[in-house]
Amino acid sequence: MAVLDQLTSQEAMDLENKYGAHNYHPLPVVLSRGEGVHVWDVEGNQYYDFLSAYSAVNQGHCHPKIVNAMVNQAQNLTLTSRAFYNDVLGKYEKFATEYFGYDKLLPMNTGAEAVETALKLCRKWAYEVKGIDENEAEIIVCKNNFHGRTSTIISFSDDPVARKNFGPFAKGFIKIEYDNLQALEEVLENNKNIAGFLVEPIQGEAGVYVPSEGYLTKAKMLCEKHNVLFIADEVQTGIARTGKLLAVDHENVKPDVLILGKALSGGAYPVSAVFANDAIMDVIKPGTHGSTFGGNPIAAAVAIAALEVVRDESLAVNAETLGQLFRSELNKYIETSTLVILARGKGLLNAIVIDEDEESETAWNICLALRDNGLLAKPTHGNIIRFAPPLVITEEQVLDCVNIIIKTLKQFEVK
Ligand SMILES: Cc1ncc(COP(=O)(O)O)c(C=O)c1O
Repeated sequence: MAVLDQLTSQEAMDLENKYGAHNYHPLPVVLSRGEGVHVWDVEGNQYYDFLSAYSAVNQGHCHPKIVNAMVNQAQNLTLTSRAFYNDVLGKYEKFATEYFGYDKLLPMNTGAEAVETALKLCRKWAYEVKGIDENEAEIIVCKNNFHGRTSTIISFSDDPVARKNFGPFAKGFIKIEYDNLQALEEVLENNKNIAGFLVEPIQGEAGVYVPSEGYLTKAKMLCEKHNVLFIADEVQTGIARTGKLLAVDHENVKPDVLILGKALSGGAYPVSAVFANDAIMDVIKPGTHGSTFGGNPIAAAVAIAALEVVRDESLAVNAETLGQLFRSELNKYIETSTLVILARGKGLLNAIVIDEDEESETAWNICLALRDNGLLAKPTHGNIIRFAPPLVITEEQVLDCVNIIIKTLKQFEVK
C-alpha cells in the first residue's frame, strides 16, 4: 500500500491499532479534512467538531490566516534551534507579552512542557528570590487536576490509570481540594516552604468544574500574603475559550505565572509558553532550561497569527454570548430530562453530567450516537461529556447543534 493511497475508515483504524501504541481510545471516526467548525471523515461525511482537539482549535480548523502564516514561514526558515537568533521569535515575544501583559515569555511546544517549565521556574524563584532552603520547596496542587503526562506531572495526578506502574514519583507537591480556600489557607499558614500554587481556573479534564465565584481572587490574595507564586494553567481554558481572553479574567486575577498552549497556535502547530514578569523570569539563565523546537520560527509566526485571529474576530465575545445560549437551550431540555442532571461551564467550555456512575458506558454510547447524528464529542468520564466547539461557531450553528444533541439524548432517555 502506497503511503498516500486513500484509505477507508476501517483500514485507517486497523493501521493505527496494529502499528501504533494503544495510549488513546479514540471514537471510531477517521477524519481527513477540517474547515471552521466542521470536519469530514474519509468517506466524506460532515461533522460538527465539539471537542476542538481539547480546545486547541479555538480559531476553527485550518484558519486561512494561520495556515498562510505557517506556509509562508515554512518556505523561509523552519528551525534554527536557540543556538542562534531567528528573526521571528523576538517579534512574537514582544507581541505575545504585550497581548497578555507580562514582561517575558519562555517558549515551549506542548502543554505538559510548559507546565514543567512553570514548576522549574517556580522552584528556582523560591530558592533564589524567596530564600527557601535548597530542595525544600513545595508546590500546592489540586485534587482531580490535569496538567499533562510527564513523570513529574503524573506524580501529583489523582488518576489511577495515569499513574499505575509509572512510579517512583516526584516529591515536593502538596495536594488540596479544589475550590477550597480553607484548605489552601491551612497549608500556607503551616508551611514556610511553599513556593507556588498551581491551579486550573476551571478543571477541564476533571469534567469542566467551575469553582465558586471569588475562589480565584481569594486564592491569589492568599498567595500574595504568603509570598507564594499563583500559577494558572490556562492550557485548556485560555485564549477566549471561556468567554474572556483568559479564564482568570472573569475575576480580574493576574497570575504570577501563566501557562498557555493548545490554542496559542489555533491547533496548527505545537506551541506553548510560560509568561511571567522579570522579577520571576530573570532567574532563568543560559543553560538552565530549553528545548530544540521551543521558539522556532514557524511556531512564532503561527502564534502571532493565531492570537490576531482571536482579537480580530472577537472570539471571546462570541464564546461568551453563544456559551450562554448553548447552556440556556440545553437547560430547557434538562428540566424535563431523566437522563441528564445538569449542564455546566463557562463560555464555550461546557459539559453535561449523565445520571449514571463514573464507570458507566452511557456517555461513550451517547458520543457514538452523536457521531451518527453529525456531531463529534468525547466523554471526560463515564458520565460526563464535554462540549467545546471552535469559537468561530455562529448562533445558527449553535442552535443546529443543540437540536442534534437533544435529539440524540432523547434516544437514551429512560421511558
Ligand atoms: C489544563 C491542562 N494542562 C496541561 C495539558 C497538557 O497539554 P499537552 O497535552 O499539550 O501536553 C492539558 C491537556 O489537556 C490541559 O488541559
